[in-house]
Amino acid sequence: MSAVIATIRAEQTRYLHQLSELLRLPSVSTDASKKAEIVRTAEWMKARLLSAGCTTAEVIATDGHPIVYGEWLGAPGKPTLLVYGHYDVQPAEPLDKWISPPFEPTIRDGRIYARGASDDKGQVVIHINALEAHLKTHGSVPVNLKFLIEGEEEIGSPSLPAFVAANQQRLRCDAVVVSDTAMFSKDQPSITYGLRGLVYLQVDLFGTHGDLHSGSFGGAVVNPAMALAWLLGKLKDEKGKIKVPGFYDNVVKLTAAERRAFKSLKHSDAKFKRDLGAPELFGEAGFTTLERIWARPTLDINGLWAGFTGQGAKTVIPAEAHAKLSMRLVPNQTPAEITKKVTQAIKKLAPKSVRVEVQNLHGGDGWLAPTEHPALAAASRAVKQAFGKTPVFVREGGSIPIVANFARVLKVPCVLLGVGLNDDNLHAPNEKLDLDNFHKGIEAAALFMQEFGAQKGA
Ligand code: BES
Ligand code: MN
Ligand code: MN
Repeated sequence: MSAVIATIRAEQTRYLHQLSELLRLPSVSTDASKKAEIVRTAEWMKARLLSAGCTTAEVIATDGHPIVYGEWLGAPGKPTLLVYGHYDVQPAEPLDKWISPPFEPTIRDGRIYARGASDDKGQVVIHINALEAHLKTHGSVPVNLKFLIEGEEEIGSPSLPAFVAANQQRLRCDAVVVSDTAMFSKDQPSITYGLRGLVYLQVDLFGTHGDLHSGSFGGAVVNPAMALAWLLGKLKDEKGKIKVPGFYDNVVKLTAAERRAFKSLKHSDAKFKRDLGAPELFGEAGFTTLERIWARPTLDINGLWAGFTGQGAKTVIPAEAHAKLSMRLVPNQTPAEITKKVTQAIKKLAPKSVRVEVQNLHGGDGWLAPTEHPALAAASRAVKQAFGKTPVFVREGGSIPIVANFARVLKVPCVLLGVGLNDDNLHAPNEKLDLDNFHKGIEAAALFMQEFGAQKGA
């Protein structure tokens, strides 16, 4: 065992204690009333970067929530890694579904339960702990490190692209490393080489000035809820095919080699179905489950409301009807293109009897890593040493909007070294992080610094 790994193993209790402290801060980015908590969390991150050994760290104000930035640049001549993560979390609601309260981290069965445990507080700190462990062991780190930890990832990173564009010199690096994804399974570590992009729209349909008695007026005016149902039903058919004109135009086809690679992974539809409690699986014909999640676009209704939803019956024709829609994108679809195509389709499909508004809430590009890049090989070696098994290369159906931006603007590879698990309950009640993965994740992060630092001309 190397000396740095010994240091990490000796410090496990303290790492856990520190993570619990961070998880107690309710840094919910969607909630304007939590602004003070967001700022406290940013300050916590800054203090932790400094206590771990960063020579500089600051909280940088933006138009939205602050960015935390820190550096340790004590390895001249060695490559530089930029660690990206987010300290904001999703809302914890519904609170009554949590076994232990979301902001009172609790350990059960070798897992720590709290909002943000896996997404992303528990994963971002592995790199900070790794920096500290190297410094404690050797007084130095085998790479230069920059940390960029934002507070707006869960709301689509609205402030970050401008910050990245304006700070290209400061953020200069040889690779970005992000731990904000899941491993393929507990006994199969993985490196993620693809993310889907996203477009999130809200559709509002308006009919009359106000709600109407459905007896007095029913039959004489359109019902916006009904019009919304007609319209949404035409966006995607019952075979899972999206009917928006031109929707698939720019989808990059899976290569035969990728399809083979996906098929070689240990995935069982029967188990997948059972784990989810789904009566049947559903998706686009001609593609496997992993292909559908990782490499095909989607169109989904995320929320739908209109009219009377309380107890009992109320005879009413609602004046308005609303839906939240999201599209997961794959390379080379762009958010601008898909926003335009879906908005046009909605406006065309809506009957003249309603007024339609479509708002674009947020979005981000999909991304594919250059899989032959030596940074990914270095990550692969680090993960193998930490987890005892060679990682497989996988894609991810979720999105981390800034990753494509890093690749494009900073022109460096991004390494997605995630240590979450698919059943971590991200965005849901009882979010957790597996403690073995947390501790091995710190080792993997430390080993990655070593492996990447040893590369020539990285
Ligand atoms: N960490 C997730 C991305 C992710 C999701 C990784 C699922 C692995 C599995 C990230 O914080 C996230 O939730 N992203 C959002 C996008 C954002 C714009 C709200 C998403 O994918 O919905
Ligand atoms: Mn995340
Ligand atoms: Mn998230």
